[in-house]
Amino acid sequence: MSQETIKFAYWVPNVSGGLVVSKITQRTSWDIDYNRKLAQLAEQNGFDYALSQIRFTAGYGAEFQHEPVAFTHALLAATTKLKVIAAILPGPWTPAVAAKQLATIDQLTGGRVAVNIVSGWFKGEFTAIGEPWLEHDERYRRSEEFIRALKGIWTTDNFTFRGDFYRFNNYTLKPKPLQQPHPEIFQGGSSRAARDMASRVSDWYFTNGNTVAGIKAQVDDIRAKAAANGHSVKVGVNAFIIARDTEAEARAVLAEIIAQADPAAVHAFGDAARQAGQASPEGEGNWAKSSFEDLVQYNDGFKTDLIGTPRQVAERIVALKQVGVDLVLSAFLHFQEEVEYFGRHVLPLVRELEDELAAQAEALAV
Ligand SMILES: Cc1cc2nc3c(=O)[nH]c(=O)nc-3n(C[C@H](O)[C@H](O)[C@H](O)COP(=O)(O)O)c2cc1C
Repeated sequence: MSQETIKFAYWVPNVSGGLVVSKITQRTSWDIDYNRKLAQLAEQNGFDYALSQIRFTAGYGAEFQHEPVAFTHALLAATTKLKVIAAILPGPWTPAVAAKQLATIDQLTGGRVAVNIVSGWFKGEFTAIGEPWLEHDERYRRSEEFIRALKGIWTTDNFTFRGDFYRFNNYTLKPKPLQQPHPEIFQGGSSRAARDMASRVSDWYFTNGNTVAGIKAQVDDIRAKAAANGHSVKVGVNAFIIARDTEAEARAVLAEIIAQADPAAVHAFGDAARQAGQASPEGEGNWAKSSFEDLVQYNDGFKTDLIGTPRQVAERIVALKQVGVDLVLSAFLHFQEEVEYFGRHVLPLVRELEDELAAQAEALAV
């Protein structure tokens, strides 16, 4: 278990409809005023990171989408400590453009930008914008080259690279990012190809929600592979958090979200998501085994089961930490008010439990 405190991130609602495919009332908005205030509340309430989303179009929910790099910059400008992770899709973005954009944002914001390289799962979106759709594992081969190119541009002068997807000739980026050696590189995706990529090049591996046992299996696999490659990678897990004063209240909210799920939209999302994990050669990865109820939250966030009283939620977070999780990526029904509730009622309990565990470990070591 890491000696560091577990970190918290939240999904930036820069797309409409919140983070559940349900008609339930959500006091969450995708506009910039709501998001600036949310980012400020999040940093005041102990959140370390915010993650913006990339989506060019949507056939279900998420009808409106703000572009994440521009949005990330706006949130960084409105905050002082929070790190904001901008999602980027290889294909529409090239590494040269991304490296330049992010280096400038890093310079303008005192070194607080990070990037999430996502490999794409939504074929309809690529078709709509006239981008070629690569088959599953090819998408990860391209993402890996993208990450290698980003690192090369950010850390060396006269960068030369001969890949199958990208080429660089003696390229020197000036100025480089403020953060050394470079802004943190996250990746989304959990198939075999995604894990192998993380074990070679990513700083962080983000995966869909899952049980503690399911997460442990991924963590063990990825850490063993990374060690064999002389690389180290941290792990972030998605969770839709419903913390309420009583467990009954929290469970009732979950039941209501699912009761009001929009079946046509959930099925459309489930169909599109078959281009992800299920399309991988091994048939694993994100959404490969998701039920209708799981799909109501875009990234299987109910499965992590951070649903209950503050103490129950805190105990489950610490259980995740004990199997090697470094960060919980959270989503909420009513973001602003629930981020505050989390900071006030859940986070102090997490820190207490972490201290207790550290003291126990120390006592055992003596
Ligand atoms: C935490 C997280 C965030 C993601 N963010 C985005 C995003 O903003 N846009 C997007 O198109 N895909 C996003 N993805 C999808 C992944 O990039 C990937 O395409 C998907 O998880 C399928 O991966 P797999 O087939 O390797 O399991 C995200 C995935 C995760 C786990």
